[in-house]
Amino acid sequence: MSIIADDNDFKNTCTAEKKNPVVKPEAADLDKNFENCIRPKSFDTYIGQSALKDTLKITIQAAKKREVPLDHLLFYGPPGLGKTTLAGVIAQEMGVDIKITSAPALERPRDIIGILMSLQGGEILFIDEIHRLNKVAEEILYPAMEDFYLDMTTGKSQTVKTLRVPLPKFTLIGATTKAGELSGPLRDRFGIIHRLEFYTNEELAQIIKRTAGILNIEIDEEGALAIARRSRGTPRIANRLVKRVSDYAIVKHNGKITKDIANKSLDILKIDEFGLDTTDRNLLKLIIEKYDGGPVGIETIAAAIGEDVRTIEDVCEPFLLQAGLLQRTPRGRKVSPATYRHLGYRTQNEASQQTLFNNY
Ligand code: ADE
Repeated sequence: MSIIADDNDFKNTCTAEKKNPVVKPEAADLDKNFENCIRPKSFDTYIGQSALKDTLKITIQAAKKREVPLDHLLFYGPPGLGKTTLAGVIAQEMGVDIKITSAPALERPRDIIGILMSLQGGEILFIDEIHRLNKVAEEILYPAMEDFYLDMTTGKSQTVKTLRVPLPKFTLIGATTKAGELSGPLRDRFGIIHRLEFYTNEELAQIIKRTAGILNIEIDEEGALAIARRSRGTPRIANRLVKRVSDYAIVKHNGKITKDIANKSLDILKIDEFGLDTTDRNLLKLIIEKYDGGPVGIETIAAAIGEDVRTIEDVCEPFLLQAGLLQRTPRGRKVSPATYRHLGYRTQNEASQQTLFNNY
């Protein structure tokens, strides 16, 4: 069965809440566990994305009043902005179960058919990275989304028969970091399509304080804002940083996160005041020092800094583009004057001299 996790993962799975102290989960489990543990479960605790939340509240109320499932929804935007979390909130607010999977797990026709046939009426099916769905799976989804049935074929060549299998009415929530890669017919089958936006520092500070509360860590307003400023507008990053900073606060201080403690700890982690990490800075420095500010092709950048193209496109670029530190042009990526300033080159000339030196 290709279901990665179901609704139970949203409920009471915090290791901290478990009574058995001898259970030792793997590191990756701990990370997942932490993420699940701090996921908000309702609109009241889901911070930010207020325009989207307002729309969804109305849609949910209307669906409940009419006693019909929600329209299919597509969320797109950079990773870590809470697309999965929002799907969980919607399920909770609708009072229905959610099954969570991702497109790469739906490789064979029987994977998607199995999941669709396991759905109960009204349930939500969440497919992450939906732009990676293969053609066959996509074509199975079309009638399932539109008219709630599956066409199954049995037999071979001349004896082949098509069996129409009805499905319960369900809601598909798709999530993608690349809406542009979704095929037109698939995109057209979603009733609501919404982009998730980067969070403001004030919203991130609220999320950070909430997470610190769940972790039982004391934090003041300035400490929360200091972490927020280096979180690249992204709750997933903010929550990871709270954990790292709280480790530092426990070991080096009295356990309380203040502005000073947050800044010291993030400096040690080499996360700068824009939230850029070593990979981001290497990428930008490469364009400046080796390619005179660009443009340069993404494959060249990836090979030079030892990252794969997808990681650069999905993880590094969205924030660098939005922060104005990187530009996409038809001839490749280039940096802006702000990038030179941010990385401490006084002038573009100075960077060119560095280029000459590096190429010598
Ligand atoms: N954790 C991740 N996303 C969140 C959000 N939008 N609000 C509160 N906590 C979160």
